[in-house]
Amino acid sequence: MPALGCIDNSYIFSSDTSLPTAADVFIPTSPTSSSSSDISSIWNPSLSASLYGIDGWGAPYFAANSSGNISVSPHGSNTLPHQDIDLMNVVKSVTDPKSSGGLALQFPLIVRFPDVLKHRVECLNSAFDFAVKSQEYGSHYQGVFPVKCNQDRFIVEDIVNFGSPFRFGLEAGSKPEILLAMNCLCKGNPDAFLICNGFKDAEYVSLALLGRKLAFNTMIVLEQEHELDFVIDLSKKMNVRPVIGLRAKLRTKQTNHYGSNSGEKGKFGLTSAQIVRVVAKLREFGMLDCLQLLHFHIGSQIPSTSLVSDGVSEAAQLYCELVRLGANMRVIDVGGGLGIDYDGSKSGEGHISVAYTLLEYAETVVASIRNVCDRRSVKHPVICSESGRATVSHHSVLIFEAASDVKPMAHQPKPDEIQFLLGGEEDLYAAVMRGDQEKSLLYVEQLKKRCVEGFKDGVLSIEQLASVDGLCEWVLKAINGSDPVQAYNINLSMFTSTPDYWVCGQLFPIVPIHKLDQKPEARGVFSDLTCDSDGRIDKFIGGESSLPLHEIDSYGGGGRYLLGLFLGGSYEESMGGLHNLFGGPSVVRVLQSDGPHGFAVTRAVPGQSTSDVLRAVQHEPELMFETLKHRAEEVMRTKGGGEEVEDDNEYKNVAACLDRSFHNMPYLATEEGISE
Ligand SMILES: Cc1ncc(COP(=O)(O)O)c(C=O)c1O
Repeated sequence: MPALGCIDNSYIFSSDTSLPTAADVFIPTSPTSSSSSDISSIWNPSLSASLYGIDGWGAPYFAANSSGNISVSPHGSNTLPHQDIDLMNVVKSVTDPKSSGGLALQFPLIVRFPDVLKHRVECLNSAFDFAVKSQEYGSHYQGVFPVKCNQDRFIVEDIVNFGSPFRFGLEAGSKPEILLAMNCLCKGNPDAFLICNGFKDAEYVSLALLGRKLAFNTMIVLEQEHELDFVIDLSKKMNVRPVIGLRAKLRTKQTNHYGSNSGEKGKFGLTSAQIVRVVAKLREFGMLDCLQLLHFHIGSQIPSTSLVSDGVSEAAQLYCELVRLGANMRVIDVGGGLGIDYDGSKSGEGHISVAYTLLEYAETVVASIRNVCDRRSVKHPVICSESGRATVSHHSVLIFEAASDVKPMAHQPKPDEIQFLLGGEEDLYAAVMRGDQEKSLLYVEQLKKRCVEGFKDGVLSIEQLASVDGLCEWVLKAINGSDPVQAYNINLSMFTSTPDYWVCGQLFPIVPIHKLDQKPEARGVFSDLTCDSDGRIDKFIGGESSLPLHEIDSYGGGGRYLLGLFLGGSYEESMGGLHNLFGGPSVVRVLQSDGPHGFAVTRAVPGQSTSDVLRAVQHEPELMFETLKHRAEEVMRTKGGGEEVEDDNEYKNVAACLDRSFHNMPYLATEEGISE
């Protein structure tokens, strides 16, 4: 029987056939790390870029730079080489302690790049402008940003500002959204649309009509037939001539998750019969001239241009019918649905990928409307889209820490323990010596089962059980049978920061933002911070059930391991919850600047504190603090049988500790800095 030995940490089988004695057995700590430094030396950032598909989903904004970090090209393809921003430099400068000149922000951290947002708004508008010009379309594109995608004040203000030259407007779906949209549009282009979608009551309709009075270009889109009664009644009372749109329930159905509410039986919009009734009622009240817009939305992430064309063509026919019925039609609003390619595959599969570019989408929309209108001899309408995901997804990156969950070997058995453990396990040893993986795994399982039963019966002590675990681990490593996938604990709540992963399996590219010049030798899945078994990320772009990651020394320091979740700028922040009371991340806004650092942090907001999240669930942190301090005072002053003891120092320490806990973020506080 060959004996197991270890040379340079890699296993070989020798021809010595004697069974190993306990003293011969070497318990390895890391049998696989043979020539990792050699491998790393031939590894480079381009290999990481292709491993993580960065050029596919990240271009033209994200790349792996020569330092092995993620770099951001804030102006997309117009970025000059010296304008690239090294994401690690940003992260370091905002998380370093104040004593080192940093801003001492805690992870998780959202880094927003308003320059990227500007580039997205410009790209969307120039794609439509190009399509309009090249197809000699008889009107123009005038889009809106649906604020539900991300209601952050600075994002909405930026979009209004960047979109002003294009008359770019906003879409609102609720009363608070209308209010924020009107406020932001005070600084926008006066012609920009304010599209009022969503279910409406009298107060919503009044607000929308008020918008007209305040000279906003407000369009009230009827989602339900009865909303028309509010509009007719309130517009008379408020003496405002409304501009009305209809949301149509198209027959065209999108098949992915986001299209589940599309089609004839969808949740939103008016059926053909309802549209006919609405037109009749408007005619009856002498208000048919108010009906000017047709809207539809068949779901987010439309996967292909053929589906775009189907939906838009059907809507264009409806538009022409409304013209025929005498409405004063001017605008066709094709809703959202312009998708982004989360995995960079352009496959159009599921809701992860779309098989078109922004320009191809715009060309399809313009061509579909033009074809129908030309056939029906109807004047080309203004084209509006409510493209949310495609506008904001790229501009922010969520950065979080990870720590490998690989434990030191369960228990290093001592030679006499091994002797004891090997007692009746000749079969297992024989299988290991032969290199018979299948049999070894089987015997290991049987050994474990027997020992657990022994433990339950009180025959085995906890030390012996730990030794068995150690032995089993050793065997698995020796036969290369260890599970190659490690769990990485992440300092993040996926319910707060990536709710769509949980709700509908939306995948986002996740990549280490540094170490890209080193080969990721491990594979990992993520366990988040919540006490919830669903708080786990084990599906990744490319159909992978684990992600290549770097081995990290969670026990001996070595700096933080930082990962970036990309393309998550839409929906995730607005939909995230407070599960386990983990609140929103810290947020910074970073502008490209020609100064010495290449970037400027224009705003830095610490994440929600423990007090903030407690307040969100009706607790009163200030009172809680006073109550707990009072209790500390009572307990510390009457230690031991009611006798009064003054222990001012201890009391002060307790009060300071409570104070810190209320003020800090609820995430794990790590002291380690970022290694250069
Ligand atoms: C009515 C409406 N418009 C626009 C959007 C934005 O869609 P997207 O993010 O796909 O552009 C949505 C999102 O679901 C929507 O419901």
